[in-house]
Amino acid sequence: MSPVSDKETIYSIIRGLALPFFVVDHDNKIIFFNEPLEELTGYSEQEVLGKPCHEILRSDICKDHCPVKETMATGRDAVNLEMTIQRKNNLPIPVRITTSVIRDKEGKVIGGLESFRDISFLKSLRKEIREKCTYHKIVSRNKKILEILDDLTDIATSNATVLIQGESGTGKELFANALHELSPRKDKPFIKVNCGALPETLLESELFGYKRGAFTDAKKDKPGRFQLAEGGTIFLDEIGEISKNIQVKLLRVLEKKEYEPLGSVQTEKANVRIIVATNRNLRALEQSGDFREDLYYRLNVITLNIPPLRERKEDIPLLIEHFMESFNQTVYGKINGITTQAMKLLLNHGYPGNVRELENIIEHAFILCRENYIAPKHLPDCLTDRFPSPAVKGKKLEELVDNFEKQLIEETLKQYGGNIERIAEELGVHRSTLWRKMKKNNIKHSIVEGLG
Ligand SMILES: Nc1ncnc2c1ncn2[C@@H]1O[C@H](COP(=O)(O)OP(=O)(O)OP(=O)(O)O)[C@@H](O)[C@H]1O
Ligand SMILES: [Mg+2]
Repeated sequence: MSPVSDKETIYSIIRGLALPFFVVDHDNKIIFFNEPLEELTGYSEQEVLGKPCHEILRSDICKDHCPVKETMATGRDAVNLEMTIQRKNNLPIPVRITTSVIRDKEGKVIGGLESFRDISFLKSLRKEIREKCTYHKIVSRNKKILEILDDLTDIATSNATVLIQGESGTGKELFANALHELSPRKDKPFIKVNCGALPETLLESELFGYKRGAFTDAKKDKPGRFQLAEGGTIFLDEIGEISKNIQVKLLRVLEKKEYEPLGSVQTEKANVRIIVATNRNLRALEQSGDFREDLYYRLNVITLNIPPLRERKEDIPLLIEHFMESFNQTVYGKINGITTQAMKLLLNHGYPGNVRELENIIEHAFILCRENYIAPKHLPDCLTDRFPSPAVKGKKLEELVDNFEKQLIEETLKQYGGNIERIAEELGVHRSTLWRKMKKNNIKHSIVEGLG
């Protein structure tokens, strides 16, 4: 007996493998279905032999992109692809599959092999972790955020004014919502006002309301947001944008709990919890004189500083799963997961737009993705653009450095109105060096003369 060529011997060896797998011929018909796979799927080998694999597995992927068929056609293996197959009794089983081709002695493809790993446990574990990391819709396992979450209930019940600071899209509104939901005021209104979106006079009447006849168009009394929020919470977003006049009025609400609607002589009482948010540095605004010091200290009783997403990369995979789960409930349709390459790109991104940007990226992927997995091709171009960028491609280092130097000098020239001494100081070079570099880079004196 020739041990290698004897089909039965090879079959008896691989039959003993613990890994569930099947083998198909080049027509995708099952020719081998091992015992662990019988156990996993509930089918016996006899039932499935000669049938196309998609009829047995009935996975969502099988219809459009049969992985083993693609592997046989392209020679490329699928590795650890996540999908959901169905047991004989129609119960879904989440699995990871790996495919490879089977060739004859001449190297001709004669079939394909697909092996399975049951990941039900992994999936439920992932879900459990995500649920543990979710608190009032806030998903995080970042130390700084967890510290905030630890105190959130105490802060919420305290009735104190809260200042939430963080870059745009970090989740400030989400925290404001959670504070209201956790407070004894939760059954009363939560009213949000975007202070940056309205001009001063409109904002004033929006906040405090007006009486009939207060101005030409005031045909009847209109309640302000403070009145609408009575007994509940008012969330003043972009508080850094309010004018000095409104700052005074807000200070009065904070100190005396009272205000007057426009055109009214009567003082109204306000029983409203105030939460404010800003993506600007309120302390810096106070120091530059743009924000009243007394109001700043009144608002700064309890401050929540929400770190940007780039400082909590550990949250990225959790947030991706969270957003995938929410988009899976919408019209976009089902997506099973994300490929390792796409995850790598998402982990390496800088997120100037923070969590909102990540949410938009996942939504973008849901719109484009016709398969089961979010792959790099479904991500926005800015994430997948490879180095060197087109602007850099084919250029010599010297040329790039010269370009950059020229641009830098020109910008600084504009900034300092042609004051050579100041520019030289800013760029950390001697005046004569600056003149030389300007000459070399052909920077026109007119910029200097024109502005000087
Ligand atoms: N930790 C988080 N977990 C889950 N979703 C989050 C988280 N942080 C932010 N989001 C989501 O990201 C989006 C932006 O959050 P939000 O509007 O609260 O940010 P923001 O800081 O108020 O932004 P802006 O400064 O632009 O007003 C929302 O859809 C929100 O639900
Ligand atoms: Mg906001």
